[in-house]
Amino acid sequence: MRFRSKQIHAGIKPDPTTGAILTPIYQSTTFVQESVDSYLAKGFSYSRSGNPTVRALENKLTELEGGADTTCFTTGMAAVHGTMLAFLNAGDHAIISDVAYGGTYRLCTQVLNRFGIEFTFADTANPDSVKKVVRKNTKMFFTETPANPTMKLSDIAAISEIAKAQNAVHVVDNTFLTPYYQRALDLGADLSLHSTTKYFDGHNATVGGAVIAKTQELDEKMRFIQNSTGSIMSPQVAWLTMQGCKTLSVRMDQQSANAMQIARFLEAHPKVKQVAYPGLESFSQHALAKKQASGFGAMMWFEVKGGLPAGKQLMDNIELWTLAENLGSVESLITHPVTMTHAAVAKEERERVGIIDGLVRLSVGLEDSEDLIEALEKALAAITA
Ligand SMILES: Cc1ncc(COP(=O)(O)O)c(C=O)c1O
Repeated sequence: MRFRSKQIHAGIKPDPTTGAILTPIYQSTTFVQESVDSYLAKGFSYSRSGNPTVRALENKLTELEGGADTTCFTTGMAAVHGTMLAFLNAGDHAIISDVAYGGTYRLCTQVLNRFGIEFTFADTANPDSVKKVVRKNTKMFFTETPANPTMKLSDIAAISEIAKAQNAVHVVDNTFLTPYYQRALDLGADLSLHSTTKYFDGHNATVGGAVIAKTQELDEKMRFIQNSTGSIMSPQVAWLTMQGCKTLSVRMDQQSANAMQIARFLEAHPKVKQVAYPGLESFSQHALAKKQASGFGAMMWFEVKGGLPAGKQLMDNIELWTLAENLGSVESLITHPVTMTHAAVAKEERERVGIIDGLVRLSVGLEDSEDLIEALEKALAAITA
């Protein structure tokens, strides 16, 4: 099956008891065993260790990403945390993209650092600068590409090669593009990680996370940590996410088409100082975007002339676009990362990596692109700052 068929059918069988076409929400703590000797004969014992609805989503994601198996988590952050616990010990070192979701940065610098794990935030857009910070004890390379919020790209194949030479794992946070546009495992990554909250759900309905492993051995490490720490996705969240998956390609294609039109509109607008969208020829890594992904996605950022005060005025007054955290949903969202998603990143660090105060992030949704552009046009015209 090809991707568009898989997103609907993979991992799902009609319910054997009733024939229900949708996998039921198996809301049950425990699963009855027929005898001691036949323990686990039906595959399930206790919902922390496995649940049939969650399993159906995991099987679907495995097929969509082309991996060996998947572990679903409570949230995207729980997936990041679980991956780091599975592959890093006290005394180990990990290299992380210097632009990444603020929660990932906070987890490394305020939580896991307390347990003797060392982190270096490196410019993973530049493989040579990554090579320079590799240490003997480097056990993980973690790239987020495109990165939230600057859209910086990392060359997945190049970083995977460095990781392989070091006998370390390469984890790609593939949230922004999903396997529909970016085949992280085929490009060489060992684990592809998602906040399923974003495009897989797509409807602002849930929070969840998933890690798709390239080999069964890697997945077993993930599953062991998950069962030990108890960070599981609930059956309701898995069910909703599964329904979202079925329209993933249709949403992403339309949202990306909308994004392209919006990026071109912003680029030509006299009140806009700069716009960053991988689909624009002016984007500094446009060639890499074309090389490693089959679509540009629906995330971008721009800065209006007049910086932060002008940007705030626009975000506070714009119609149709919703001022909120989250991304990837059918609703178009506008976000100020410095105040919202990346407040945990120290100011000097933010400035060093280009998360400037005036950065306005857009997650383009499924509304009519003309309405979205008209709303932006009106909000830009109203700026007085
Ligand atoms: C790229 C990326 N990774 C991980 C996360 C964390 O996901 P969650 O909010 O589901 O915990 C986010 C959240 O915004 C994100 O943008």
